[in-house]
Amino acid sequence: MRPVRDAIRSMITTMVAETSSSSQPRVYLETYGCQMNIADSQTVIAILRRAGYATTEDAAQADVILLNTCAIREHAEDRVLGRLSDLARLKDTRAERKLGLLGCMAQHNRAALMKKAPWLDLVAGPDSYRRLPQLLADAALDPTVDVRLDRTETYADISPAYENSVRAYVTAMRGCDKFCAFCVVPYVRGRERSIPAADIVREVQQLAAREVKEVVLLGQTVNAYRYEQIRFGQLLRMVAAVDGIERVRFTSPHPSDMTSDLIETMAEEPKVQPYLHLPVQSGSDRILCAMGRGYTISQYLGLVGRLRSAIPDLALSTDIIVGFHGEEEQDFAATLGLMRTVGYDSAFMFKYSVREHTRASQLGDTVSDAEKGRRLREVISLQETISLERNRALLGSEYPVLVEGPARRGEGRLVGKTPQFKTAVFPATPSIRPGDIVRARVTSATAHSLVTTLV
Ligand code: 5AD
Ligand code: SF4
Repeated sequence: MRPVRDAIRSMITTMVAETSSSSQPRVYLETYGCQMNIADSQTVIAILRRAGYATTEDAAQADVILLNTCAIREHAEDRVLGRLSDLARLKDTRAERKLGLLGCMAQHNRAALMKKAPWLDLVAGPDSYRRLPQLLADAALDPTVDVRLDRTETYADISPAYENSVRAYVTAMRGCDKFCAFCVVPYVRGRERSIPAADIVREVQQLAAREVKEVVLLGQTVNAYRYEQIRFGQLLRMVAAVDGIERVRFTSPHPSDMTSDLIETMAEEPKVQPYLHLPVQSGSDRILCAMGRGYTISQYLGLVGRLRSAIPDLALSTDIIVGFHGEEEQDFAATLGLMRTVGYDSAFMFKYSVREHTRASQLGDTVSDAEKGRRLREVISLQETISLERNRALLGSEYPVLVEGPARRGEGRLVGKTPQFKTAVFPATPSIRPGDIVRARVTSATAHSLVTTLV
């Protein structure tokens, strides 16, 4: 889920402007996991602000501490449990301070969680956020759990507390119906449901009025979007038609839902950017079949071919899992081969992690952790080589770069994104502001970014 790099892997503290007056209860919220979770956290903040809460970026100042969590791999859960026990110490200094766990892990682990983390006051799943004010009031009396999944909850009427940025992530659909054998998402986020197109467009208009230049439509399988007669390609066109929005992206699409209408829209609509995150998971047909992904490698490569002929400057990224149940050396070799054949611009690569409830959890874990580690290192190293080669091939090319702000490293430099969602770094000048689109020429490249000069 993501062009936002590292979204799944890294912990992101939700950056919401601090608001408070002395009488208001204060909430501190930390977000883990994918871009969907970051968007959900913005909805949670909007709901709590409406109920009279203020936000704080200092957990020690908070009356309510919330963690919005991810259940996609065991590692993600372990990190949250560690963080929870740290935060629980803050309750020692003020017993009435409430500690709550939100999101996918809440949904996944409910009962076990209360045992592992007995200091939790609240556990609430992704469809329970509308009830949070009441749940927090209940939690003042007794530990409270609400993990009801709701086939209709979309939060479409709630305008999220977006951070101030040139780019905003707007949820277009929630849940997933694909049930890939390894994946816990359909169990923790429930069935697929699309947000009414009119609500999405209204949200995007409001963002445009706040000088947001780029919108990323989000969904677990975002291109399965369907609201009444409106399919995803049409939604993209409606969003692109909003004045003031200069760039439109989306993540993550599922290969099986890449219709020709969508490909045409990407090719024809100038605001829709030439970048696609197209998760493949494995290069072996045998493993893809066991995963229940719904396509073969030859179908996937056919799709890549159609995309590249329609959108010649398209950048592609992917997700890869190594060490899935039954993955033999030749299956792994097929994954390496596929990576070379496609030549992805970047990839997110993971060791397979058995997840309770999933179909694959019945099959067991046939590849040792050490072997998964070796395979992971190998795919990462191959991807580094490919990314570097692809970026170096861009030397001398010019791109319109949407300026985001100061570069993390390097005084006096700014950073932005090319249409292909590559990070471009360039020297700051006083006249350039976030939200501007500048023309930049690539002078050198690493596997992860382009060094450019302005032209
Ligand atoms: N183990 C490892 N990786 C997983 N993903 C989803 N479930 C698992 C799992 N059980 C990866 C997939 C997916 C990405 C969001 O996370 O590659 O595309
Ligand atoms: Fe998980 Fe598959 Fe749904 Fe993606 S499409 S969220 S991998 S079940």
